[in-house]
Amino acid sequence: PRARISLDASYTTAPVPHRLFGSFVEHMGRCVYTGIFEPDHPSADADGLRSDVLELVREIGPTVVRYPGGNFVSGYDWEDGVGPVEQRPRRIDRAWRTVETNAFGLDEFARWADKAQTEVMYAVNLGTRGLQEACDVLEYANHPSGTKFSDLRRSHGRTDPYGITLWCLGNEMDGPWQTGHKTAHEYARLAGETARAMRQVDPTIELVACGSSSRSMPTFGEWERTVLEETYEDVQMISAHAYYEESETTPLADFLASAVDMDLFIDSVAATADAVGARLKSRKKIGISFDEWNVWNQTAWNSSERANGRTAWDVAPRVIEDEYTVQDAVVVGTLLNSLLRHGDRVLVGCQAQLVNVIGLLRSEAGGPAWKQTIALPFEQVRRRSLGGHVLDVRTASDRYETGKYGDVDLVDASAVLHHDDDGGLARVTLFLANRSLEESAQASVSLGGFAQDLAVGDALVLAATDGQDRYASNTESAPTAVGLRPLASAGGSAAVETAERGAQTAR
Ligand code: AHR
Repeated sequence: PRARISLDASYTTAPVPHRLFGSFVEHMGRCVYTGIFEPDHPSADADGLRSDVLELVREIGPTVVRYPGGNFVSGYDWEDGVGPVEQRPRRIDRAWRTVETNAFGLDEFARWADKAQTEVMYAVNLGTRGLQEACDVLEYANHPSGTKFSDLRRSHGRTDPYGITLWCLGNEMDGPWQTGHKTAHEYARLAGETARAMRQVDPTIELVACGSSSRSMPTFGEWERTVLEETYEDVQMISAHAYYEESETTPLADFLASAVDMDLFIDSVAATADAVGARLKSRKKIGISFDEWNVWNQTAWNSSERANGRTAWDVAPRVIEDEYTVQDAVVVGTLLNSLLRHGDRVLVGCQAQLVNVIGLLRSEAGGPAWKQTIALPFEQVRRRSLGGHVLDVRTASDRYETGKYGDVDLVDASAVLHHDDDGGLARVTLFLANRSLEESAQASVSLGGFAQDLAVGDALVLAATDGQDRYASNTESAPTAVGLRPLASAGGSAAVETAERGAQTAR
């Protein structure tokens, strides 16, 4: 396939949002326990945090991490997770049918986030609880002192408030699987009144109302409209969640085009939000928080682990520990492209999840930790985008036919422009993915409005170390089987060739 990518130096759409490269830690499976927290691990620090995992997290560099759930949060009592550990109760977690020991809670997570050099995004429970609990946990986290919950925090050894800015008003409340699932009207009322009360406690916070759990939800669109009509002036963002997989109903060609769904999802939510804004005669724009997205083999999960049901009520069992391939990483690259292309509207993005549970990272209890294939595009795009401006990319690509999305570009692209300290052009970074199953792609880049000649700085391609196996993955015994290697064929001034299959970055 061939593609022509056109860029113009003056056509930027937005600064790259700092929070676009977030992730997610849920009390689910082994994300927390034996993921980020394992007091008995040889690398554990004084807080019981795995420093081998922390080091990898700092390399990948999620800029914000959502916590504590997910479906988990809709039955969670945050008070169980603070105070002296020996007094914390073991509780049933209905969402994942496990036992929560509460050895890890808000204070531990805030300490971890500090060491991981990331921002905390905290979700309140609007499933089994509501307005009062949301205000209490906010008071615990952000109020300086002299009140019940701020003094409780201080009695637990944390004098300064955490100053958590980003708050989610519940999780996936549109989903019938959610504990305390609500109709759009019920949720809209609760989210609106909770938002207003939370802003009375701390007017500096930014609030995210629940949007849809996927674009295929029967309530999609109507849900967003109803929720925003009630909350428009009280929230900053509405959420979106999406998981993609190759399955019987989604053949590989369609799976590779998953970003088309993400593009449509974002455009539809933006249009719905703007329609509500227009009716309310508001000048405000609602942002989108894409705070769960990834590749996830849900068919396997639904037909095995979940359908069979676990009855053992284990603590931190293995749950959805998907092993990611080169191909999954290519799809993740295109999802990152979609988020970047929408950097004027998507203000927060959280890949789900950080460790073990559909994780960027894997770790073994008492053993090693390593990066999955999907961490490679995540890290590269984050490193090479932050501090830049999103370029309006025009792609004229050969196309191919998919069942779900009609004909689709074979080459998917996004681009970022960086200026130097004097405002001059420092570099252009192109993120390209080739969706062809058979052939290499050739991309030529046409640059308009650039004052100086550009030469290719470096170009990398994601691939299996030996050969072209699209199902290659990183494992405990071969943690770097898939990596990034120099793309020799990239060259010429202002011309980049994608000579190999896979997601690629070039600058
Ligand atoms: O990330 C796994 C789960 O997927 C989350 O708990 C839930 O919000 C979503 O359905």
